[in-house]
Amino acid sequence: MILFQNVSKEYPKTGFALRDVSFHLRRGEFVFVTGPSGAGKTTLVKLITMEERPSAGTVRVSGFSSDRIKRREIPYLRRRLGVVFQDFRLLKNRTARENVAFSMEVIGTPREQIGLAVPRTLAAVGLASKADHLPAELSGGEQQRVAIARALVNEPFVLLADEPTGNLDERVSKDILRVCKDINLRGMAVLFVTHDRSLLDDHVGARVIELDSGALVSDTEAGDS
Ligand SMILES: Nc1ncnc2c1ncn2[C@@H]1O[C@H](COP(=O)(O)OP(=O)(O)O)[C@@H](O)[C@H]1O
Ligand SMILES: [Mg+2]
Repeated sequence: MILFQNVSKEYPKTGFALRDVSFHLRRGEFVFVTGPSGAGKTTLVKLITMEERPSAGTVRVSGFSSDRIKRREIPYLRRRLGVVFQDFRLLKNRTARENVAFSMEVIGTPREQIGLAVPRTLAAVGLASKADHLPAELSGGEQQRVAIARALVNEPFVLLADEPTGNLDERVSKDILRVCKDINLRGMAVLFVTHDRSLLDDHVGARVIELDSGALVSDTEAGDS
């Protein structure tokens, strides 16, 4: 589903953000990606969305390959991915329901289908009762739930969450991680990026990929942690 084969990413000004990183995320798997600020976590996410291309090695995502994908094919890849960021990125003048519906509207989903999927997805993230609220009327944790619902509503094969709890306090962070875990229990792969190792404490046994200075220093699945 997501395969990194000896992937390096060198930026012209700052040098190597990733060095020779290899891992495989299978269908339905949950993985934490952790490591200090500057370790290369966001670069790894951008290589999956193909916002960046590797300097060496190959990234394969759901049948697409960084070696062969054409610029015009990237929107089709992106439709297969659900992405969530630290800063929520909601449309301020649209309600929770409208924010989630928007990502279906832009790909031309029939109205009836939107009408069914949006309430179901808001309920899945625990936000059914706040569907008509604007982002400003929601807490940070609630706004992130809307962003997660928006990422999920088109049924991607993986949820990519890049520091989704970076703006949230400890209790709410744990709630958001729980939401992501529940989504994974329904069968969706999740790549949960966080520099905050304390979040992993409640999830002993989960797969953890650790980056440091662009190198993959451990992958618990590979048994070398
Ligand atoms: N667009 C960019 N141009 C140049 N250097 C970058 C760019 N994005 C990230 N970097 C550099 O790559 C390294 C890894 O950054 P990043 O992937 O954002 O790490 P993390 O998300 O783990 O904090 C850092 O040294 C950063 O300065
Ligand atoms: Mg980052």
